[in-house]
This record gives sequence, structure tokens and C-alpha cells, in this order.
Amino acid sequence: MPSSPDLIILGGGGHALVVAEAAALVGMNPLGFLDDSPAASLATGPGALERLGGFSDLERLLTTGATGRAAAIIAVGNAAVRRPLITRLRALRKPCATIVHPSANVSLSATLGAGVRIVADGGKSDGGVFVGPRAVIHTRARIGDHAIINTGAIIEHECEIGENAHIAPGAVLGGRAIVEPDALVGIGSRVMLNIRIGAQAVVGCGAVVVRDVPARATVIGVPARSTH
Ligand SMILES: CC(C)(COP(=O)(O)OP(=O)(O)OC[C@H]1O[C@@H](n2cnc3c(N)ncnc32)[C@H](O)[C@@H]1OP(=O)(O)O)[C@@H](O)C(=O)NCCC(=O)NCCS
Repeated sequence: MPSSPDLIILGGGGHALVVAEAAALVGMNPLGFLDDSPAASLATGPGALERLGGFSDLERLLTTGATGRAAAIIAVGNAAVRRPLITRLRALRKPCATIVHPSANVSLSATLGAGVRIVADGGKSDGGVFVGPRAVIHTRARIGDHAIINTGAIIEHECEIGENAHIAPGAVLGGRAIVEPDALVGIGSRVMLNIRIGAQAVVGCGAVVVRDVPARATVIGVPARSTH
């Protein structure tokens, strides 16, 4: 019987709890996690994992011993924190896991990072996508490496989600919407079809986006307007 693929989780907070549970559900074997806080949520309670070290230990742990042979996934909600970790994983040419919660609904014509559902190849594309429970990724949507499609988010047909973007729980993107890299589309927000959300932009919780959002802008409200 083939053994479960080993996994190292980068991060130990709330999002890491969700990723660790999903990883177990899809038959992966999390060896532990990295986090700078010894009191990280994932260290105790149901489904707790061993804290293997802090982020300064990343290169050592991911290149030596059993942990060095495992795939990695970044399980930190904040895109700005994830970004330098992506750079470091790329420098190591580290294979990253793409994890899709079993209750998510992903169209067969959608693309997730390298397009591999469990462990990506570490080649041209890193993978590292996380798709949470009951998320829907519809026809021909394309999801970039290290993006998070969180619990119950809906990504409609032909959307493009950039690398390291985070679509938060319950957010809904209409058809052909584009979310550029490192952007956050907040909890329960709505993005009309054909809208573009710029790189590193933040769409606040509950916003309804009816116009394009420039890079690095923060928008809130209904209809969404810039906070500046
Ligand atoms: C929009 C957002 C980025 C603003 O964060 P912030 O700059 O720290 O703002 P503050 O909490 O200091 O609030 C500033 C003001 O904006 C209001 N505000 C904050 N978020 C708002 C939102 N989403 N919609 C409407 N008003 C909002 C606050 O009530 C406050 O108003 P006041 O000055 O009249 O009291 C943040 O509230 C947000 O919605 N982030 C998305 C979080 C998310 O979805 N994360 C994913 C987790 S899985």
C-alpha cells in the first residue's frame, strides 16, 4: 500500500489549523509545522502537531532528513507574510502541496497552480494552492500558485486568481473577475463580473465591488469605495 505523502506546514495559527485538517482528510501525513511562536494554535488541542522550529529554521528543515523530503504548504493568512516565504521556498526549489478540501467543488476545467491536486512538481509552477471546505471553483477558472480559496468562497467561470491572492470565506467573484497577486478579497464580499482587483489591494469584509480596484487600494462598503 503506498504511504501517505509527508507534509510540512509553514505557520501554526488559525489558517494552519484548517490546512492541517484538510491535509489529513486528503490522506497526507503532516510531520509538523514551523512558526515563530511556541504558543501557536496548532501546537495544542484536537489535531495538534509538533512545532518543528521557527521560520529561521526553514532552509535547514526543508533540505535535510525526513522533513527535507516532505512537500511544504504555506498556511498563513496574511499575503505579506506569505510572500517572503514563497521567495525562500522557490530558492530551495521546494515542491509545494496543493490541497483541496474534499467538500470543495472544483471544475475539471479549472487550473490550480501546476494543476496537480495533491502534490505539485516544484518545476515551472510551485503549486501550494489551498482550497477550503465548500469552496466552488467553476468552469475554466485559473488559480495561481500559493493562492488561498477559503471556506465557502465562490470563484465563478473564467476568473483568474493571481499568485498568493487570498479569497476569504464566503466571498463571491462573478464570471471573468481578475484578482491580481497578493490581493485580499475579504470575508463575505461580492465582486461583480469582469472586475479587476489590483495587486496587493484589500477588499473589506462585506464590500460589493462594482468598479475596478487599483493596486494597493483598500475599498469598503456597498458599493465599495476607497478608504483614502
Ligand atoms: C477594511 C479593513 C482592511 C480595514 O481595516 P483597518 O484599517 O484596520 O480598519 P479599522 O478596523 O481600524 O476600522 C476603521 C474604520 O473603518 C470601518 N470598517 C472597517 N472594516 C470595514 C468594512 N469591512 N466595511 C465597512 N467599514 C469598515 C470601522 O468600523 C472603522 O470605522 P470608524 O472609524 O467610523 O470607527 C478590514 O476591516 C477588513 O475588512 N479586512 C478584511 C479581513 C478579512 O476578510 N480577512 C480574511 C480573514 S480569513
